[in-house]
Amino acid sequence: MHTTEPRPMSARRSDALSGRARVPGDKSISHRALMFGGLATGETRITGLLEGEDVLRTGEAMKAMGATIEKRGDEWIATGTGNGALLEPEAPLDFGNAGTGVRLTMGLVGSYDMTTRFIGDASLSRRPMGRVLDPLKEMGLQVLSAEPGDRLPITLRGPKHAAPISYRVPMPSAQVKSAVLLAALNTPGVTTVIEPVATRDHTEKMLAGFGAALEVETDAEGARHIRIEGQPKLIGQTIAVPADPSSAAFPLVAALIVPGSDVVIESMLMNPTRTGLVTTLMEMGANIEILERRNEGGEDVADLRVRGSELKGVNVPEDRAPSMIDEYPVLAVAASFAEGDTLMQGLEELRVKESDRLSAVAEGLKANGVDCEEGEVSLRVTGRPGGKGLGGGTVKTHLDHRIAMSFLVMGLATEKPVTIDDQTMIATSFPDFTALMTRLGAMLD
Ligand code: S3P
Repeated sequence: MHTTEPRPMSARRSDALSGRARVPGDKSISHRALMFGGLATGETRITGLLEGEDVLRTGEAMKAMGATIEKRGDEWIATGTGNGALLEPEAPLDFGNAGTGVRLTMGLVGSYDMTTRFIGDASLSRRPMGRVLDPLKEMGLQVLSAEPGDRLPITLRGPKHAAPISYRVPMPSAQVKSAVLLAALNTPGVTTVIEPVATRDHTEKMLAGFGAALEVETDAEGARHIRIEGQPKLIGQTIAVPADPSSAAFPLVAALIVPGSDVVIESMLMNPTRTGLVTTLMEMGANIEILERRNEGGEDVADLRVRGSELKGVNVPEDRAPSMIDEYPVLAVAASFAEGDTLMQGLEELRVKESDRLSAVAEGLKANGVDCEEGEVSLRVTGRPGGKGLGGGTVKTHLDHRIAMSFLVMGLATEKPVTIDDQTMIATSFPDFTALMTRLGAMLD
C-alpha cells in the first residue's frame, strides 16, 4: 500500500534547457523482459531495464512463481522456470501501482491450475480488471473472489486444462490483448486475438523473439488477427531495452515550451505504435529533428534534437490515441503554450488509467489558469503563448506519476510556479526524473 507521507514539489520558470538526456528503459518492454525471461528456459540477459517500482514488482512476482532474477553489474539476469512450469505463489502478489504488471500476470497465470491472489495500492485497487478476466473466464479461469466491479484484491484459480479461444478485444488495450496471448502460452491449440485498432505490439514481437509461433495478419477493415500456437518452448534471450518514449515525452515537451532550449534525447524507442506524440507535436510546429535512426535489438530507435518552439493548436485525430495514450497529459501541457485551440478526442481510456486522467488534467490546467473544456471523451485546451498569467496553482496528482511529471514540466514555462501535491509516484516509472531534468536546467524544488 501507498503509506508514505505525500511530498509536494514545485517547478519554477527556468532559463533555456540544454544538454543530452538518456531517459530510462521502456516500461512496457521492461515488464515483458522480466516476465518472459522468468518464464523461458535458460538465461535472459537484459540491459537498460527500467528499475522503477512498477517493473521491480513484476520481477518480484516472477520470483514468487519460481524464476530467479538478479542484477549482475549493469545486467539483469533472469533464469526462467520453463514455459508451463510456473509455481503457485505462497503469498499474494503485490503489484503496487502497476496496471501492466497485474493485468499481464493475470493472463500469464490464468491458464495454470493454481490459485493466485493479486493486491495493489489504492490507485490500482480502483482500476477495472474485468476487461482481462472476461476473456480468461472463456478459457476456463475461475474468479474465486473480487471486490465489486472486478477490482483488487482478486483471487484467481486457473483450469485443469485451459481452452483456446478467439477473442475480439472490445477496447483498444495492449494489456488486454497481451493477457490473452500470455494465457495462450499454457493452453493447447491455437488462440486468436483480434484487435480492431492496433495497439503497442511489444508482446507479439518479444514472444516471437523468445521462440513462440505467432502470426499476425491485417484484414480488409484494418483489424489485426494474432494467432499463437499454444505451449511453445520459450528460450532465454538477450534484450537491450530502448529509452521509453513515454518518459522522453517530459524533457521533450519541456524543451519545446522553455524558450531557447536545445536538448538531445538519446536512443528513444521509435516503434510506430508509440510515436503519436512526436507526430502531433511536429504538426503543432515543434522543432524536432530525428537523428541517427537505427535498429537496436529488433526495435527502431533514434536520437531526437528538440529546440524551443512556437507551437500552434491542432486537432488530434481520434485514431491516433492508442499510439500516444500515456502522453495526453503532457500534450495538454504543450497545448497550454500553443497559439489557439488543441482538441483531443477519443479519450475514453484515459478515465481508467492510474487516475481518471481526463479530469485530473482538466483540474490541474484550471488550477493554473489554463482555459480548457473537458468533454465525456475529449479535451479542448486554449493555449497562451509565453505562458503569460499561467501557473500559481497546486495540482492534485491522485497517485498518478504522469500527472505529477506533466505539471512539473508545465511550471518550467509558466509565469508563476506550479506545485504538485505529491512527487512520490514518479518513482514508479522514472526514478531519476528530478535529477535528469535538473541537469538540463529545470528549476525543481
Ligand atoms: C501498456 C498498455 C497501455 C498503457 C500502459 C502500458 C502495456 O494500457 O497505457 O501504460 O505495456 O501494455 P492499456 O492496455 O490499458 O491501454
